[in-house]
Amino acid sequence: MHIKDTFTLKTNIIIKNRLCKSAMTEGIANSMNHCNQRHGNLYTKWARGGVGLSITGNVQVDRRFMEGPGNVSIEKDTYLDQLDDLKSWAESGKINGTQLWMQISHAGRQTPQSIAKEPFAPSQVQLKIPGKAYGLPKEMSEDDIQDVIERFVFVAKVAKETGFTGIQLHSAHGYLLSQFLSPDINQRDDTWGGSIDNRAKLLLTIIKRCKYELGEDFPISVKLNSTDFQKGGFSSEDSIYVAKLLENEGIHLLEISGGTYEQPRLIGLDDVSINPDRSIKRKESTIAREAFFLDYAEKIRNNVSMPLMVTGGFRTLEGMNSALNSGVCDIIGIARPLCGDPNAANKLLEGDIQELPSYEKTLQIGRGILSTSSRILQIQAINAFSQMAWFYIQIKRMGDNLNPSMKLGILKAFWLNNKDEKKVLKNLDL
Ligand SMILES: Cc1cc2nc3c(=O)[nH]c(=O)nc-3n(C[C@H](O)[C@H](O)[C@H](O)COP(=O)(O)O)c2cc1C
Repeated sequence: MHIKDTFTLKTNIIIKNRLCKSAMTEGIANSMNHCNQRHGNLYTKWARGGVGLSITGNVQVDRRFMEGPGNVSIEKDTYLDQLDDLKSWAESGKINGTQLWMQISHAGRQTPQSIAKEPFAPSQVQLKIPGKAYGLPKEMSEDDIQDVIERFVFVAKVAKETGFTGIQLHSAHGYLLSQFLSPDINQRDDTWGGSIDNRAKLLLTIIKRCKYELGEDFPISVKLNSTDFQKGGFSSEDSIYVAKLLENEGIHLLEISGGTYEQPRLIGLDDVSINPDRSIKRKESTIAREAFFLDYAEKIRNNVSMPLMVTGGFRTLEGMNSALNSGVCDIIGIARPLCGDPNAANKLLEGDIQELPSYEKTLQIGRGILSTSSRILQIQAINAFSQMAWFYIQIKRMGDNLNPSMKLGILKAFWLNNKDEKKVLKNLDL
């Protein structure tokens, strides 16, 4: 098995190779949170870059509760205004025979205060990270939950109508669907909380409704945490259980990731929450295998036979081929390497390189300090956000048809991205 091999989904849709550009927030929507030519420019680059499957950054179902000010959001009242732009985004992302799936999400309690002072969440449990960037959430009412379901289904229908070839429901990384799954965040005592079946009900209801509206043949994927890495949170056992439910529901592809804003394991970083729990360590075997979640994925693979994709940390051709050959996963998700070199997948597929670039290795504020004192939590949190900022700026540059800049430093990226977000926020027509 090789990353060059094709992969056939159950509905006979062929993905031309085993590499997927995993979802990454673009942050380049206009003041109405509509997509535009910048999305077309960016996804043209990634489609030309060789991946078989490309998944968009999280498209929001509700502008009031976005993950960032530059997110694309699709809403009933205004979607017609961006229909043409959505169609041309889809066209651009599909060139070169690429599959283009829209990731759909609601940020829930991970909505920044600058967007919503009182975000929505399953229960009134606030994010525990330094600073006051995230407000105390409102516990959602039954009507709020029904509205969220309708919004997910609506965005999924628009995705299909405008030419995206599939959708992915974002149920990982601590956003709303993942919050419902987590027993420490979802403390409801109605039918949406309590047992794992109840906590998974929102995700499953949305899938059932999407299948009904889009048809069995339209690919539906889910991105799921292998665990939240939080004591009393969504565990590896929960994840296996939900994977089985998803298999029964007949989804086309399950992407496995892990972590939340408090536990940014998705990008390989440690606990940045207030009172960090240092007892949950990354397993040595996982570190050695380069991909962060392969051990967890293996347990899921032992319980389900649906197609699996694993994302996080994959860099070497050898590591990717060995994961495919072991049968643990069918598709390899990659994200950050494609921010610095949108053509990196082609190079790997053609054998020009044996390893994707690991930009994150050189992007750390106070590297020496951190290794001696992991208690400098603020620095750790700033570090996590700054690293992300570096990748955001490269994405924005590509949206403007510029090449990524290797001269950009992490502090400058942090400053530039903050400045840009403030400007976007100020102009936002909320
Ligand atoms: C700038 C940036 C934005 C991201 N945005 C999203 C997102 O919108 N949805 C999502 O599911 N994951 C998002 N991620 C996580 C990636 O999809 C991926 O899981 C993570 O970067 C680990 O893969 P990597 O080691 O190949 O980068 C984002 C990551 C980065 C660096």
